[in-house]
Amino acid sequence: MCSGRVSPNFIMDALSKGVDGVLVAGCHIGDCHYISGNERAQERIGNTKELLTMLGLDDKRLRLEWISASEGKRFAEVMTKFVDEIKSLGPSPLNPANKIIDQVPKEELECPQ
Ligand code: FES
Repeated sequence: MCSGRVSPNFIMDALSKGVDGVLVAGCHIGDCHYISGNERAQERIGNTKELLTMLGLDDKRLRLEWISASEGKRFAEVMTKFVDEIKSLGPSPLNPANKIIDQVPKEELECPQ
């Protein structure tokens, strides 16, 4: 119901299953029906992007956009541009179907102690 409700866990779950990209869309700043949910989303997405970078994923695979319900044309434009950008990045290295993850040495996937 609100971009502020999109938990980083939802995003990380999708990306860890091999989704190539995640776009979160919310109301423009000042227009959130829950007052400041979009401001919370902005902070959470920023933190999640930092986490993606630490994990070696391009943070362009996650995007936050402000699109109101009346901006159908803008929604289509944003989605088209996002899909093009994700295609240019190639498939997610976490997608088991493309087996890129199998090319990473196992020791690089282990967490340091
Ligand atoms: S209702 Fe909160 S971002 Fe739209």
